[in-house]
Amino acid sequence: MKNTTSRQIPKQQIAHQLEYIEQVSRRNALLPEQQWFFCQTFGCQQNEADTERIAGMLRDMGYQRTEDYTKANVIVVNTCAVREHAEKRVFGMMGKYTHLKDSRDDLVICMCGCMVQQEHITEKIKKSYPRVDIVFGTHMQWRFPELLLHRLSGSKRIFEISGDSKGEIAEGLPVQRGEGCHAWLSIMYGCNNFCTYCIVPYVRGRERSRQPEDIEAELRCLVEEGYKDITLLGQNVNSYGKDLGIGMDFSDLLARLDAVPGEYRLRFMTSHPKDASEKLFRTMAEGTHISHQLHLPFQSGSNEILKRMNRGYTKEAYLSLLAAAKTYMPDLVLSSDIIVGFPGETEEDFQGTLDVVRQGQYDQLFTFLYSKRSGTPAAEMPDAATQEEKQDRFNRLLAAQEEINQVRQDAYQDRELSVLIDGLSNGKDDSEFTHCGRTDGGLLVLVSGEDLHVGDFVDVVITKTSLRALYGRAVRKGYHG
Ligand code: 5AD
Ligand code: SF4
Repeated sequence: MKNTTSRQIPKQQIAHQLEYIEQVSRRNALLPEQQWFFCQTFGCQQNEADTERIAGMLRDMGYQRTEDYTKANVIVVNTCAVREHAEKRVFGMMGKYTHLKDSRDDLVICMCGCMVQQEHITEKIKKSYPRVDIVFGTHMQWRFPELLLHRLSGSKRIFEISGDSKGEIAEGLPVQRGEGCHAWLSIMYGCNNFCTYCIVPYVRGRERSRQPEDIEAELRCLVEEGYKDITLLGQNVNSYGKDLGIGMDFSDLLARLDAVPGEYRLRFMTSHPKDASEKLFRTMAEGTHISHQLHLPFQSGSNEILKRMNRGYTKEAYLSLLAAAKTYMPDLVLSSDIIVGFPGETEEDFQGTLDVVRQGQYDQLFTFLYSKRSGTPAAEMPDAATQEEKQDRFNRLLAAQEEINQVRQDAYQDRELSVLIDGLSNGKDDSEFTHCGRTDGGLLVLVSGEDLHVGDFVDVVITKTSLRALYGRAVRKGYHG
């Protein structure tokens, strides 16, 4: 069934929010002093992109961004619930922010994001953090201007959490992007996969894809504004379009976006192996702007654990997918996520994980110790391994990857790579390397050379390597599609 607009919040409701932005802006214009906002973001790229939208609204309300929270009139803490560690860190910070209210009762403190979408967390905020003014869930973000205006107008503290778990899409609200040449571009929201360890589907709702024309229009604007490194975002980009019913999958979207002219690179994350296909790899290999970079989390190398994780693939299927990707793109830069210590993981299961790491030859791994999330099926699964055993496996995994990384980094010695200069190097490294940048595959390179500028594409000959970075000399400028 064709379903092109039903997930979109009606334009009229968005127009109301724009009106609230205008009202706060008029209010702020009458104040004698500049008003400031401070945002702190925990968690993943989706959260960073959400913060950019909140920052865009605040900017249009007349607030200016500050990195000094003590100066802020509005503080927004965008939270993450994926692991317990992140939740502890958030609460650790909140005391510091609410303490500011001792001398500043005009300060508005907001909490949003995945963590507050859980009932036990909002209860805790209600009881233990009475100085938090506004708490809004992931489905309520588009109503932030209205919530802030209410609070500024003297309403009681605000908790707006619930919302349709099927979720909605808000188009037409402002965004304030980071400085530099990189931009996030959300193509879809939510997740339907319900991996048994993961809280995301509960706090971000079901998958919903943006319309391809809205995504393309945003990409055209980004390219026009000079962004050169653009990352398409979704919890599982490979299921893009399934909910739209217009016969378009992620590879089709990628090919359509790739046709937008300009000097830029397109990346994407995250890809779920169960939905990745040869068609995707072919599209990547044939594309003009599409980076040969793939983040393909496998989580565990044990079929038994994969089954209990509800991942929907086997170790063998995953490895043959990797082999196909490398056949299409021999220069592929590969990364993955791995969870160590999932309930019931044995030493043998863990050896399966090490085996995939060795066969996969990743450029980068994001490794996590399993963290129990209440409300997920894995939280109820029996778990015999001790924390020490899990930590020992984790350390062995890091050591195995370090060896692989070194060999992979060393293999770039003397090679010539196209690099997008995206900043100045931080000065701690050898001073000859004044700039930093990313290769097509996303590897960090510290660059020496004359007349280098952020946003330049340069060809760099690699003269030195380390685990952390490649080092090289720029030999010429120019973009290669
Ligand atoms: N414990 C540890 N790691 C987790 N991840 C998701 N949920 C958990 C959890 N409960 C990891 C997965 C995912 C990444 C974003 O976070 O590896 O791919
Ligand atoms: Fe979580 Fe799995 Fe969805 Fe990724 S695909 S967000 S790990 S449920």
